Amino acid sequence: MASLLFFIFLTAIITTEAQRGESIVNLGSSLTPTSKSSWQSQSGFYAFGFYQQANGYAVGVFFAGIPEKTVVWTANRDKPPALASVTLNFTSDGRLIMQSAQGIDTAIADPPERAASASMLDSGNFVLYNSDKKIIWQSFESPTNTLLQGQRLTVGNELFSSVSVSDQSTGIFRLKMQTDGNLVQYPVQTTDVAEYAYWASGTDGKGSNVSLCLDDDGRLYLLNSTGTILKNLTQGGYPTKDVVYFMRIDVDGIFRLFSHNLDKNGNFSVIWSSSNNKCDPKGLCGLNGFCTMNDQDANCLCLPDFASVIEGNWSSGCERNFTAESCKSKDGSMKYIMKAVPNTVWEDDSFSSLTILTKDDCEAACLKDCNCEAATYRDGVCRKQKLPLRFGRRVLGDVNNIAFIKVAISTSTINKIEPLGREKYSRKDIMILGISLSAFGLIMSVISAIAIYKNRVRAYRRVSNSGNVDLSMDVSLRSFTYSDLEKMTNGFKEELEEAILEEWAYSCFEALELDKLVSDQDVDKRQLERILKVGLWCILDEPSLRPSMKKVLLMLEGTVDIPIPPSPTSFLSTV
Ligand SMILES: *[C@@H]1O[C@H](CO)[C@@H](O)[C@H](O)[C@H]1NC(C)=O
Ligand SMILES: *[C@@H]1O[C@H](CO)[C@@H](O)[C@H](O)[C@H]1NC(C)=O
Ligand SMILES: *[C@@H]1O[C@H](CO)[C@@H](O)[C@H](O)[C@H]1NC(C)=O
Ligand SMILES: *[C@@H]1O[C@H](CO)[C@@H](O)[C@H](O)[C@H]1NC(C)=O
Ligand SMILES: *[C@@H]1O[C@H](CO)[C@@H](O)[C@H](O)[C@H]1NC(C)=O
Ligand SMILES: *[C@@H]1O[C@H](CO)[C@@H](O)[C@H](O)[C@H]1NC(C)=O
Ligand SMILES: *[C@@H]1O[C@H](CO)[C@@H](O)[C@H](O)[C@H]1NC(C)=O
Repeated sequence: MASLLFFIFLTAIITTEAQRGESIVNLGSSLTPTSKSSWQSQSGFYAFGFYQQANGYAVGVFFAGIPEKTVVWTANRDKPPALASVTLNFTSDGRLIMQSAQGIDTAIADPPERAASASMLDSGNFVLYNSDKKIIWQSFESPTNTLLQGQRLTVGNELFSSVSVSDQSTGIFRLKMQTDGNLVQYPVQTTDVAEYAYWASGTDGKGSNVSLCLDDDGRLYLLNSTGTILKNLTQGGYPTKDVVYFMRIDVDGIFRLFSHNLDKNGNFSVIWSSSNNKCDPKGLCGLNGFCTMNDQDANCLCLPDFASVIEGNWSSGCERNFTAESCKSKDGSMKYIMKAVPNTVWEDDSFSSLTILTKDDCEAACLKDCNCEAATYRDGVCRKQKLPLRFGRRVLGDVNNIAFIKVAISTSTINKIEPLGREKYSRKDIMILGISLSAFGLIMSVISAIAIYKNRVRAYRRVSNSGNVDLSMDVSLRSFTYSDLEKMTNGFKEELEEAILEEWAYSCFEALELDKLVSDQDVDKRQLERILKVGLWCILDEPSLRPSMKKVLLMLEGTVDIPIPPSPTSFLSTV
């Protein structure tokens, strides 16, 4: 009889608990990763307990009712995973602790008083009660990266992204509910200032105690302390039956509202996201890397001549594969050039800012300053930077932003890469050629001279007879001096049909018939092609298209690639 009464009594208790949607966990209960590993909510949709993390186990709350065991909360997320031999004890004196086989205790929750019971609620909130059944601790108050329906991100608190989908430890992005009423996204390890922000709700100044809330119908909004909605991030009104909604700041730094159907074939779908540009989150690419959009996806690239620190790990950033310039010891075997990274923006941490007219001047200013490792140029302002550069991203359509990076080329490499044929062109020769040619826009004259030579016009005999220049020596282009050219072209006043010659030179170049230019003379074709290409660039009618002096020099010595020049006539027609 007594046992029957007890049974009825017990059934009554269970029924009441069931009606309240609760499954109570009593003191003295325990979990282990390998046997009973979790306590489920009444609905069975959420569970609190062990889940697999890396090569061990972590404790948290996760979706239990669906195949994807998505984790929504983790205890001590930055502690190393536990071994299979640990036990989670809800001790008889009301502490919730994880005990290792060696007897080391780790607290899972830190309530202000001893707990009397615990519960995994159907809302996804894991709570501890005192003996008066008052909640003394809840997982909802210390969110990690996710907000569930009914959960709030209260003032001063933040969500942190995870390292990866399978590693719940703290990643590199955060979402903060600020005391100025603004909800803002930043990279981790930055102060809360606008220059580091990459998303904001724009509700600053709307109150000092604002919360981010998620309602059952999928409405995500900002609420002030007297209950006024300041802003709806999503309008809500989504179906509430058999669907669950949650908001998460994802590994990639974007926060999204997800829905999931509770039926077996249900899946996750993104209802809303804070940004559609995956390059928005600052720092996605680590130091010295920059983000580019590749279709809908973000991709990280390294600065020129830099390589990933850890292959495949974007946040590890990039490092240079050469020795940095030193102001103290000049390493003679190293030479530095500037490489352009167009259409990119970076954090401005410049040590010097110059108002300079052109990109080329900016490039040159950094090149000659041994302290300058990179420069950013925009709208006539040149900013000299030290490495590392961070928060880099490519901004397409904004051609005003350009970065220049100082990279080393060892002088021995130049000779290896660019064998210059039978004759070695000394830097001085190239310099003289480069300067004289670009200074006077005279590459045309070289072409003319070649043409004259080819056609055996009088100029050839005159110069040759004078004995100043021995044109019978092959590959002699480089040894033309300014005065030689002057003589050959009769003080540049020779009535040459320039335009026709230009076109002829270009068509020879286009048709790869360089030999025509020099007739049957035995010349270094590559060097000739180089000179011709530079020449064609220098004679363009549009001055802004002509390369700078320095560029000409670099082009001639083969340090930089020479793009295919446009036809000299094509620009005339567009002007
Ligand atoms: C923790 O649980 C294990 C297994 O139930 C038990 O052996 C151990 O004594 C418990 N420790 C405490 C402090 O309650
Ligand atoms: C909440 O917003 C309403 C409407 O803007 C405003 O009247 C009220 O003072 C605000 N409450 C607080 C505490 O700022
Ligand atoms: C903020 O407002 C909530 C009510 O929405 C209140 O419970 C809480 O105490 C307030 N916090 C602060 C720091 O004023
Ligand atoms: C937010 O959405 C709710 C429900 O749709 C609506 O009642 C409220 O007026 C909206 N508030 C704002 C500020 O848009
Ligand atoms: C997920 O569910 C939505 C709506 O239920 C559906 O449109 C979508 O195709 C599903 N996606 C996948 C990958 O099954
Ligand atoms: C650095 O890497 C780039 C590209 O991979 C290469 O062209 C360059 O020669 C390398 N520089 C050094 C000093 O190794
Ligand atoms: C990437 O590298 C950083 C160190 O630079 C490390 O902290 C992080 O855990 C790595 N991420 C992954 C997914 O391995």
